Amino acid sequence: MKAVIPAAGLGTRFLPATKSQPKEMLPVYDKPAIQYVIEEALASGIDDILIVTGRNKRSIEDHFDKSYELEYTLQKAGKDRVLKQVRNVTNLADICYVRQKDLKGLGDAILCAERHIGDEPFAVLLGDSITKSPQLCTKQLIDVFNKYGKSAISIREVPCDKICSYGIVEADKVEGNVYKINSLIEKPKINQISSNLAIVGRYILTPDIFDKINQTEPGFNGEIQLTDALSKLDGVYGVKFDGKVFNIENRLEWIKSSIDFAMSDEEFCDDLIDYMKRFL
Ligand code: G1P
Repeated sequence: MKAVIPAAGLGTRFLPATKSQPKEMLPVYDKPAIQYVIEEALASGIDDILIVTGRNKRSIEDHFDKSYELEYTLQKAGKDRVLKQVRNVTNLADICYVRQKDLKGLGDAILCAERHIGDEPFAVLLGDSITKSPQLCTKQLIDVFNKYGKSAISIREVPCDKICSYGIVEADKVEGNVYKINSLIEKPKINQISSNLAIVGRYILTPDIFDKINQTEPGFNGEIQLTDALSKLDGVYGVKFDGKVFNIENRLEWIKSSIDFAMSDEEFCDDLIDYMKRFL
């Protein structure tokens, strides 16, 4: 299966940090956010990755490219451990890039991937959302897609006052954490939907989504919304995700994500706890 990682957005919710730097390159503890996303795809069994970028996103390509000067300098200085880390990033995956020329929404970004994807089901992992759980979010979706043969999207409950920040779905439980989706609305007003199940930013899509996107009129914010195209598909399943989700364009979630990953690092967790105690 191939994966598409949309990463063209301007990051306006995190200005001025994202003025000249892609939000996907913001560091989360010791790696740029998009590296976590690519590692999730790889660990889920996907090794063909297309990133949809835009202008001012060159540093994403540079991060996953070879850095001769850096490698040479580290090698000469005998910094073998860091050198290995740098080379691991370069060799992580074969990544292709396509640019979204006009920022016309997530649906339009997915359309930029049509030629690369062809007529196969594919995964979408939003480049600004990191998930953390023992069971990989994307792998869970692949399993549900393999069982039901329909598009599958990751969902989770959010507080009711947050539903206007997400794509929200109404769904009926099928079994375990699997739901059949009845309706979807992108960033609804509180009185538009009686559900708090939000789309997480991980999808397995059947290729007929491209036709549906082409038939989709501009929606929320005047953009072509993937959520609106999804509601035209014949059958979509939701998989309730019980891990952690960090949307790094949200400053609070971005800080939480760095703390969370730092706490998983034995080298720093005790010092971090000591520091945080001062605020309690
Ligand atoms: C996008 C999707 C939305 C989803 C969200 C998850 O919105 O359009 O349906 O709930 O990602 O993070 P964005 O956050 O890009 O505005």
